[in-house]
Amino acid sequence: MSLNPQPPHAHDAAAVPHHVAIVMDGNGRWAQRRLLPRLAGHRQGVESLRRCVKACAERGVQVLTVFAFSSENWSRPQDEVSGLMELMGKALLREVPQLVRDGVRLHFVGERAGLSEAMRAALAQGEAASAGATRMVLNVCFNYGGRWDIAQAAARLAREGAQITEDSLQRAMAMGHVSDPDLLVRTGGELRISNFLLWQAAYSELYFTDTLWPDFDEQALDAAIAAYRARERRFGRISEQLAATAAARERAC
Ligand code: IPE
Ligand code: IPE
Ligand code: MG
Repeated sequence: MSLNPQPPHAHDAAAVPHHVAIVMDGNGRWAQRRLLPRLAGHRQGVESLRRCVKACAERGVQVLTVFAFSSENWSRPQDEVSGLMELMGKALLREVPQLVRDGVRLHFVGERAGLSEAMRAALAQGEAASAGATRMVLNVCFNYGGRWDIAQAAARLAREGAQITEDSLQRAMAMGHVSDPDLLVRTGGELRISNFLLWQAAYSELYFTDTLWPDFDEQALDAAIAAYRARERRFGRISEQLAATAAARERAC
């Protein structure tokens, strides 16, 4: 897996996106529409994530990154926050063995210092148990914020006395183990990034859908991938240059 930001056209937009990132939004509204407590929506969100991981692996996605809990989500009512923490701990215990069997390698991305000792241990255990898996990487952004990530990377480089360059920052960031997302999906209808991958989404194709996260099924994923395939990824160039590059590549084959 590349440590560097991908060079333009490293991943052909005509193919399945190498790296898909998702803001899993809309759990609360899904529950409220059914007159259920918000936590029931989060529980259903875990089911939706399980389905999505499987569908992504089946389609050949190499990296899936999901936003599970933001730095700002601590501001929610205390019972929702503690419910989410409990849900995360339980989901880990329940899901990790199957993820390992399916070849999914887990990474938790976020500020661990803000989490309980038990949660930190559970995250480390999930990562260790799946360390040998090679089919797909699943990054779970938990207590994560894009601004936190940029700041912690800069602080780390400053501590080490290292030069601050785009490349060194990219490597020092919590997502330094994977290439940037090709496709960034947000469910739940909001048209914003909410402090998700601020640095890494520089050239991601953005896809917003009104579908609430618990309803995001295989067809919804296929619709997102189809939209991605229809995009032209120019990375600052113009269409004619892309056509010339593609023709040259074809001649070389
Ligand atoms: C996203 O769903 C899950 C988390 C932020 C943990 P929400 O809980 O934000 O659902 P809505 O946006 O209120 O419907
Ligand atoms: C973003 O959703 C965070 C996650 C999905 C984990 P939010 O529901 O917290 O975002 P805002 O508050 O609507 O921007
Ligand atoms: Mg929300």
